[in-house]
Amino acid sequence: PAEPGAEATARAHPNIALVKYWGKADTAQNLPATGSLSMTLDIFPTTTTVRLDGALPADRVVLNAAERTGVVADRVVRLLDEVRALAGSSIRAHVTSINTVPSAAGLASSASGFAALATAAASAYGLDLDARALSRLARRGSGSAARSIVPRFAVWHAGTDAQSFAEEVAAPDLAMVVATVDAREKSVSSRDAMKRTVLTSPFYPAWVDSTAQSLEAALAACRDGDAERLGRITETNALRMHAVIQSCDPPIRYLSPTSVALFDRAAELRADGIAAYATADAGPNVVLLCAADAAETVRDRVADLAEAVVARPGPGAMLLPASERVA
Ligand code: PMV
Repeated sequence: PAEPGAEATARAHPNIALVKYWGKADTAQNLPATGSLSMTLDIFPTTTTVRLDGALPADRVVLNAAERTGVVADRVVRLLDEVRALAGSSIRAHVTSINTVPSAAGLASSASGFAALATAAASAYGLDLDARALSRLARRGSGSAARSIVPRFAVWHAGTDAQSFAEEVAAPDLAMVVATVDAREKSVSSRDAMKRTVLTSPFYPAWVDSTAQSLEAALAACRDGDAERLGRITETNALRMHAVIQSCDPPIRYLSPTSVALFDRAAELRADGIAAYATADAGPNVVLLCAADAAETVRDRVADLAEAVVARPGPGAMLLPASERVA
C-alpha cells in the first residue's frame, strides 16, 4: 500500500534503436505500429527520486534542479496518475531527477527519464511490478522508454497493451560511438513528428511494412551472431526513417550537413575494413555501431566531425539505495 513519506530512487540509461520505432498504432496507450530493437547504453544515466507527500495539492517536478511546469510536468503527472490508479492511491509526489543526457537532442533522454520514473514511482507507491509490467508502464510515458527497462539489447513488441513490452535478446559483441553534433533542443518533438508522418507521408505504409521485415531480419542476424548484417540493417533502417520523416507535409529534416558527413565517414571506415554503421534518431546526432573491439578506433576516426564518446551495452533500470536519493 502507498504510504505518505514513502520514497524510492531509480536509475536508467538511454537506448539507441537499431530498428526504429516511428509511428503509433494507438496514441492513448502508446502502442507502436511496429516492433523495434535497441541497445541500452552504459553512459548518460538519469537518476530519479519519487517521494510521496500527503500534504501536496499537486505533483511537483524538478528536473536538473529546475522546477518544471507545462508539457514536461504534464507528461510526468500522467505517468504518476497511471501508477496511482494501479496502487489505488491519490497521494501526490515530489519528483526530482538528474538527467545527464543532453536533453531533447535526439539522444533518447525521454527513454532514460521515463524508465527511471516508472521504476521509482512503482516502488514508492508500493507496487510490486515485474520487468514486463514496468516496461509497459514506462511505455506509457514515452514509447522508447519501454526498452530502457531492459539491459543490453532489447526487442519491444508491437501488439496489444498486454503484449507491448520490451525484453532482452542475445546479440553480437557490439559497442556504439555517440557523436554529438548539436546538444540543443530539437525544433519538432518526436511525438509531433510521428503524428505528422502518420497523417501526411505517402511513404508511411511502406515504412511500416519494411520495418516489420527489418526487425525479423535483425533478430535473425542476432541469433546468427552476424554483426555486419545487423549493422547493414541498422543503417538502412535509420535512413529509411529519415526518408519517411523528410516526406512529411510540411517536411521535417533532423539531419544536418555534419550528420550526413558522419554517415559518409561510416562508409569510409567500411572501405578501410572497419565495420562501422551509422544511425540517428530524431535529431542531428549520429551513433555509430561497431564491433566492441573497434570502438576506440571508430571514436578517433570521427572526432574531427563531432564530440564522440564510446558507449557499451548497459544495465536495465534499477532501484538504488536511499543514500543515492536526488535531493
Ligand atoms: O520515445 P519517443 O516517443 O521519444 O520516440 C523515439 C523515436 C526514435 O528515437 C526516433 C526512434 C526509437 O526507436 O528510439
